[in-house]
Formats: sequence, structure tokens, C-alpha cells
Amino acid sequence: MAIVTIPDENRKIEDPDEVTAYLASIGIDYEQWEPAHPVAEDAPEEEILEAYGVEIQKLKGEGGYVTADVIDINPETPNLDMLLNKFNVEHWHNEDEVRFVIDGRGLFHINPEEGPVVSIEVRAGDLLRVPRGTHHWFDLCAESRIRAIRLFQDPSGWTPHYTDSGVSRGYEPVCLGPAYIPPHEVSR
Ligand SMILES: [Fe+2]
Repeated sequence: MAIVTIPDENRKIEDPDEVTAYLASIGIDYEQWEPAHPVAEDAPEEEILEAYGVEIQKLKGEGGYVTADVIDINPETPNLDMLLNKFNVEHWHNEDEVRFVIDGRGLFHINPEEGPVVSIEVRAGDLLRVPRGTHHWFDLCAESRIRAIRLFQDPSGWTPHYTDSGVSRGYEPVCLGPAYIPPHEVSR
């Protein structure tokens, strides 16, 4: 379940219905999908896309998304800092940013046209749709682990456009939910 915070108001929202309603009020679609389909930690992309085929088809039908892939980040990901630095400053895209988290967790910040900046901590089972043009940025939590299905209307058009506002520097990437524990450690 996502945790929403509004740092400028010292406010935290954890009730599922309130989270959904608040995010809807700033144009962000949020859904929680259960149960997750079990896929191995090292499952290849094709296997994950197949396991979540029904969900992916549903999203494609709803949003005009034509392709899906899997982003898989862990502390050993090469050039991790370089990769993250592309997305942890305020930017926007020409198309929706759709993420369905299947493992790990991460932190989105949304800077809505009206109202204060909102942070959204997402984890497995969370589906987030950030509409095109929305100003936002993304950080990992301490474990540097996220695996998520991404959907695209046009993969070639998915480029960050930076606002150069400096807003993102004013917000610490603080994750408040329980720490992520890799599945292989849970079962020990
Ligand atoms: Fe983005």
C-alpha cells in the first residue's frame, strides 16, 4: 500500500481510500492490485510480462499503451547513480508514466499545478499513473531495489524533459514504510 506525505503540511496519509482520493485530486491514478503473481527474484523479463499478462492487457486497453517492459534495479545495477540522477530531478514526459511495482519500493514526488508537493512511496502491488506533462521526480529507498512493469504509449517518446526549477532539491527522499526485505531473506 502506498504511503502519501505532504512535507510542506507535515501530513501523512496511509488510509487506502484517502490515499486514492488525495492522489485523484491531483490527477494521479492509483490502484492496488492483489494478489501479486509469484515470480522468482531472478525471473527474466519475458516471464514477468507473461505472468502479469492479464493486467498488462487491461492497462493497454484503458490507456492506449502499446508496449510493456520491466525495469529491474538493485544495488548491483551498473551505473546506478548515473541512472538515478536522470530521474531524481524534476521533469515531465510527453506521455503517461505508468508503473506497476512487483518488488522492492520507490518514492515518487509530484509537483502538481496547484497545491503542495506530494511524495508517494510505492511498493509491490501498487499501480501508479502519472499523466503526461505532470512535473515529478523519482528516488529509490535505502535498499536500492525496485522491479516494476512499465507501460508506454510510444517508447521512443519517453524522454525526461527537465524543468530546471530546482524544486526537487528542496525535498529529502525519505521513505517511511517498512524496510524492503528480499524474498530469499524472508523465507530463511
Ligand atoms: Fe519520469
